[in-house]
Amino acid sequence: MTFNYFKSRIQMSGHAALGKLGFGLTNYRHPQRAEALANVQEARALAYTATTPLECVEIDQAVRATLKVPGDMAEVGVYLGGTAAVILNASHGRHLHLFDTFAGLPDSGDYLVKGEYAGSMDSVSRTLAAYSDRITLHAGLFPEDSGPDVENLRFSFVHLDMDLYDGTLAAMRFFWPRMNPGGILLSHDYPQIDGVVRAFHEFFATEDGVLLPLSGQQCIAVKLASNAAA
Ligand SMILES: C[S@@+](CC[C@H](N)C(=O)[O-])C[C@H]1O[C@@H](n2cnc3c(N)ncnc32)[C@H](O)[C@@H]1O
Repeated sequence: MTFNYFKSRIQMSGHAALGKLGFGLTNYRHPQRAEALANVQEARALAYTATTPLECVEIDQAVRATLKVPGDMAEVGVYLGGTAAVILNASHGRHLHLFDTFAGLPDSGDYLVKGEYAGSMDSVSRTLAAYSDRITLHAGLFPEDSGPDVENLRFSFVHLDMDLYDGTLAAMRFFWPRMNPGGILLSHDYPQIDGVVRAFHEFFATEDGVLLPLSGQQCIAVKLASNAAA
């Protein structure tokens, strides 16, 4: 019996116990899954994120799955840079555009409080200093203020973590036509936040694309060749 065997047994038992409390379950015995978990733990050490380790593994694997798709990557909803670190750790040589008001959640009709998750662009820049050659930080309301910065780009991977109906719908309308075939748009808070679910269902009522809810609080949408970027 190896150390890794006992480690995976402990992790599985921990997850089984957490599963009874309503948290996600996974199996770390396979080396690919164990490696993904180790990668995200390393990235999560850079900055706090409420996105769970399991959800970070989903981000890690979605990023890796899109590495052969041409295009840049983007995240809207950066806060302290925790999930941005996971995306950067999973990708090599890819550029990541990071969008946030850096003043917290904007005004909305949703129940969330304006100004929650206020961060600072300078501190995110310091946190992600090791990746400074392949990130661009865009401050302001997305897409109204910062969308024009990237309107001529094409994307392989987009992470949305905006918490709000309006912003999520607007971001999907912005990115979806700019995604290359095989590209993945992954969102947090599905099905946790009703506004995010509503935005996805409204958007995909008329748009092509494969929408898949994941086992944590996330969903992914895969861009098909038939609805590729113009
Ligand atoms: C839950 S936090 C993001 C958490 C982050 N992904 C992490 O690593 O934990 C949500 C963020 O979305 C940002 N945000 C929400 N709507 C936005 C919009 N329309 N434009 C820019 N930023 C927005 C907020 O400022 C906040 O920092």
